[in-house]
Amino acid sequence: MNDKPVAVITGASRGIGKSVAIALATEGYDIAAIARSVDSEGMENLCPEVEKRGAQFFPVGLDISCTSCQKEVVSNILERYGRIDVLVNNAGVTPLQREDVLDMTEESYERVMNINLKGPVFFAQKIAREMIWLRQQIADYKPVMVFMTSVSSVRSSTNRAEYCISKSGLSMASTVFADRLSREGILVFEVRPGIIKTDMTAKIKDKYDKLINEGLVPQKRWGLPDDIGKAVASISRGDWNFSTGMVFEISGGLNIHKL
Ligand SMILES: NC(=O)c1ccc[n+]([C@@H]2O[C@H](COP(=O)([O-])OP(=O)(O)OC[C@H]3O[C@@H](n4cnc5c(N)ncnc54)[C@H](OP(=O)(O)O)[C@@H]3O)[C@@H](O)[C@H]2O)c1
Repeated sequence: MNDKPVAVITGASRGIGKSVAIALATEGYDIAAIARSVDSEGMENLCPEVEKRGAQFFPVGLDISCTSCQKEVVSNILERYGRIDVLVNNAGVTPLQREDVLDMTEESYERVMNINLKGPVFFAQKIAREMIWLRQQIADYKPVMVFMTSVSSVRSSTNRAEYCISKSGLSMASTVFADRLSREGILVFEVRPGIIKTDMTAKIKDKYDKLINEGLVPQKRWGLPDDIGKAVASISRGDWNFSTGMVFEISGGLNIHKL
């Protein structure tokens, strides 16, 4: 059994997930970093970032939408570390093409829902079962789950409905897991990022540069992956131990309703 606590982060090879992995390594967690492939430049670059913070790095290949592949992955992580203390369900995608909701295809809907909703929900279910068991085995065990949703879980974009619908569903998944797992001593949080500068938003950078300049985001800047990493670090540190089910919107003030 690993002495140090262990964090499992999906979608860790780039962007927000990478920042979360580095932040949790800094907080004293050993890391299991999940992406579709372990042989990417992103995973290779993440390894030294984690290790120079004194943490172990275990790269794991998993397409999160493959629910039948998840059991083996959970077993491999437990075989390597013997414990999972934090799960950050972060992997997610946008539609390959932005189409009006009236033209949305079933193929695109299924792709996005399988990666953004079905995959994370059943991964959380499997890890929750292990956490319940681990609670009886480890003294001072403080398990936490984080669901990475989006401001799109409560805001409509008519040209990427499948994304909004998936994130809205994931937001409720976070609430349901928080409710069920509260009696098991497992805390569950939703982190809801705003407009964050990553590969995901690279294609729409010019459009959002302009909108942000014009005041769309009250704090008048792009969010950075580190903004999200810091929030997850705070959650994992136990700063929010009486707040299970809480939603952290990290969006530079997009949450402000104004006239
Ligand atoms: N960027 C934003 O403005 C923003 C705003 C709100 C919410 N979010 C959410 O935050 C999360 C991270 O977004 P990001 O901006 O960091 O995205 P990103 O830069 O595109 O990175 C996505 C990550 O997910 C992994 N991934 C993609 N498909 C996967 C699959 N089927 N199975 C396993 N891993 C997969 C990718 O790894 P590989 O390609 O190496 O597999 C990569 O590590 C997503 O859930 C996203 O919806 C982002």
